Amino acid sequence: MKLIILGPPGSGKGTISEKVAREYGLLHISPGELFREEVKKNTPLGREIKQYIEQGRLLPDEFTVQVVKLEVHGKKKYILDGFPRSVAQAKAIEELKVGKVIFLEVSLAEVLKRFAGRRACPEGHTYHLQFSLPHHKGKCDIDGLPLGRRKDDQPRVIKERFKVYQKISLPVVRFYQRKKLLKKVNASGTPEEVYERVRRTLR
Ligand code: AP5
Ligand code: MG
Repeated sequence: MKLIILGPPGSGKGTISEKVAREYGLLHISPGELFREEVKKNTPLGREIKQYIEQGRLLPDEFTVQVVKLEVHGKKKYILDGFPRSVAQAKAIEELKVGKVIFLEVSLAEVLKRFAGRRACPEGHTYHLQFSLPHHKGKCDIDGLPLGRRKDDQPRVIKERFKVYQKISLPVVRFYQRKKLLKKVNASGTPEEVYERVRRTLR
């Protein structure tokens, strides 16, 4: 099973991908997470990536495609979270022959509420102060690491990420619609409700 999950910033791509990956035994590949890991290491590359992320800009297509191709090399079971995000990226991975593309549809107002309460551990496992609490306050259920806010969750950066999404990433949705691979999922409601809708599209 090879899947793609798309949607605006904060639509729940990471939250849903974690659940899908666990239930269906898929590798969860999120370039956003991979990039944040490199930033944490504070390498010269990480410092360059940091500038893009903190300004809400996309990293160059060629670089992102190479990163993803290395990750998926030789693998047959994965979910790509937040990739491809430009038509150029989508065209560059046509050879992977992805089976389904899940598109999380949610309003801007709802997404903004989600950002305000998002917390994540350094490994990228995601929680929400209101909708998805960890078992122990401030600690990740999976690895016990402390939870914090993402650097790009400030209003100014969120606004830029939305602009980029509308201009560069929405055409990717239409690209897969034309290829009849797109499965639109109503992504409002609780994470459990959204996940149930996603499961139905995977049957
Ligand atoms: P990335 O990390 O992919 O960020 P994003 O697309 O902006 O999306 P988010 O991760 O912020 O949100 P999400 O949809 O995963 O939602 P989540 O599950 O966390 O990318 C970051 C940056 O990396 C980009 O800006 C770019 O610079 C770079 N990058 C990444 N991919 C790239 C690419 N392909 N090309 C070039 N550059 C790239 O949920 C949000 C919150 O809501 C959480 O707190 C969660 O607990 C909560 N929540 C989730 N679902 C629900 C629900 N149903 N009800 C209530 N709360 C919910
Ligand atoms: Mg995410």
